[in-house]
Amino acid sequence: MLPEVLDGIRQLTRTHASPIYVYHFDAIKRQVTKFREGMHRSIKLFYSLKANPNPHIVKRIGELGVGAEVCSGVELSIADSAKISFKDTIFLGPGKREDELYSAVRNGVRFIIAESFEELERLDRIAKSLHMVTDVGIRVNPLRPGVSSKLVMGGLPLQFGIDEEQIAPILERFGRFSNLKLAGMHMYVGTQNLNAESIIENTDYILRTAGRFVSEFRLDLRYIGIGGGMGIPYAQSEKDLNLDLMHAGIGCVIDRYIQNHGNVEILMESGRFIVGESGMYLTQVIATKTSRGKHFIVVNGGTHHYSPTFMAPLTKFDETIITPFMDDEGREKRLQTIVGTLCTPHDVLLRNVELPAFRSGDWIGFRNAGAYGLTAGRVLFLSHPLPKEFLIADGCCINIRE
Ligand SMILES: Cc1ncc(COP(=O)(O)O)c(C=O)c1O
Repeated sequence: MLPEVLDGIRQLTRTHASPIYVYHFDAIKRQVTKFREGMHRSIKLFYSLKANPNPHIVKRIGELGVGAEVCSGVELSIADSAKISFKDTIFLGPGKREDELYSAVRNGVRFIIAESFEELERLDRIAKSLHMVTDVGIRVNPLRPGVSSKLVMGGLPLQFGIDEEQIAPILERFGRFSNLKLAGMHMYVGTQNLNAESIIENTDYILRTAGRFVSEFRLDLRYIGIGGGMGIPYAQSEKDLNLDLMHAGIGCVIDRYIQNHGNVEILMESGRFIVGESGMYLTQVIATKTSRGKHFIVVNGGTHHYSPTFMAPLTKFDETIITPFMDDEGREKRLQTIVGTLCTPHDVLLRNVELPAFRSGDWIGFRNAGAYGLTAGRVLFLSHPLPKEFLIADGCCINIRE
């Protein structure tokens, strides 16, 4: 983080009660720019609101020309209020309610992606009731699991998408959906992937599979969603995703698809990569104690606000994720476990990290907390107040959650 951003954060710790979240918009802009450099011309980027749906953040991301990937009616309305057009919005999710689908169809959301046969039937019925013919996509749960993701969401028995082996019979009888037009296919195989080669391999599989269905059923697909799952490094052992390699490899497999099947729009969605590095969760030490030889640091907050392992359970978080805001002169380093205020032994933010001994009142910042932070938490457990959220942008710091 830039020294001026750290200074801004330090200032917030002097004027506000813990815990707080701080986001830095330049970091978001940097990620979007980095992604776009070298990106294949057919790719359109969508921001996955689930990573951080704060309307101020969504609005600014929309202003960068990024579309929205939403998974609920409320996310759809946040994207709409952020002035992201329905035509630039993808609507995914394993359990979309009737009213949510109705609103998506009526508003002309361009990429509604069905995740079950029943959802196709429901969409057809809704479109008929509105006297519309609606473009839909199908999310395919591939035969092959996503490679290298820290949370696999494709290729296993899952609630996501329709199994690849069930697709052909659906395509054979797609004509029964009189008010649906099959416009796209989508696969998303997992999150927190730092291996460019495996992202290329996953994309290759997705495009080959879609191509096979296109040839076999003479489909006129206008878009294919390839997901992404691009990760960010959280620990010393993790390296930045090699974007040059990823773009070059994905570009090759897209070119091959276009050569064989004609032009297509490639949708790529990203949450963690776009916002993850922009955020910091800051909290204060309430108590320190030793139990059977182990040092526990109890902070004013916890996994109900910030739970990095929720969406990246296999990541081995270490002390590099911590930015201490204290004068550590004369403090010995020791192994410490940072825990929250919840009445469960699972409320552990970081286990056995070697850092200068914390004392009550010290502020601790957790870096890379911009994605799957506050809204991925069990925020009502123990009825603690919600942390405030601040956004540093254009030289100003604004409160984006009262
Ligand atoms: C279908 C879908 N798309 C996109 C995302 C966002 O993933 P990421 O934050 O890894 O970019 C997810 C995360 O669960 C997802 O399920």
